[in-house]
Amino acid sequence: MKVIGIAVAVLFLLAGGVVGFAYSGIFDVAATATDSPMVRWMLETARESSVQRRAKQVPVPASFTDDRAQRGAKAFDEMCTGCHGAPGRKPFLGAGYMNPSPPDLAKIAPERSPQELFWVIKHGLRMTGMPAWGPTHGDEQLWDLVAMVKRLPTLTPDEYRELTEAPADDDHHHDHGATLHTTDVPVAKGSGSPEMGEHAHGAPEGHAH
Ligand code: HEC
Repeated sequence: MKVIGIAVAVLFLLAGGVVGFAYSGIFDVAATATDSPMVRWMLETARESSVQRRAKQVPVPASFTDDRAQRGAKAFDEMCTGCHGAPGRKPFLGAGYMNPSPPDLAKIAPERSPQELFWVIKHGLRMTGMPAWGPTHGDEQLWDLVAMVKRLPTLTPDEYRELTEAPADDDHHHDHGATLHTTDVPVAKGSGSPEMGEHAHGAPEGHAH
């Protein structure tokens, strides 16, 4: 009886400690903060094991033809290079200061199985800034991206440009306008939408900004 009492008391103390720690603000959430080696090890090991475990259930498609990489090239260029860069393409300035920062995919591609790449691209990585692309893209398009990532290590900047500029992106029609880009950032400054002009209480200039 006594032992159980002590155990319960200790549990309460621990739980209280965790809640107290959360409220205390001691934990530094700054992207510029560095994790201790132990926390880093925990996070990386948890991430890698989690991906490996789940990737095992992903069925691989029959082949990775050049076709596939070609089909995924343009989408890759639009959706991924802002953070990851590519041969001859730099990521946006802040990418290197994300924590964890997006790796150069040309370097990590040889170390990852197609299934692992597929799983990460489809589901994203929680708390890292790596988005999930599954909600907006079908599996076939995701495999095209995987094939493109697998091609990266062998591409020169010129070959990369050729691949991404070729007009072969047949089944990838939707707009990627909202993704990160270093060069073209279309910002409509202060111009009200047409609807606003029509419905906004008869004020044709819209409201002040
Ligand atoms: C907003 C930034 C951002 C965008 C856009 C982005 N990623 Fe990532 N990506 C990350 C970050 C951050 C990580 C995690 C790094 C870590 O955990 O160390 C990551 C991780 C990955 C990984 C796992 C790397 C590994 O070590 O196994 C793959 C694969 C990947 N991204 C592919 C892509 C692809 C393909 C696209 C485009 C469809 C893409 N990413 C778009 C930020 C981004």
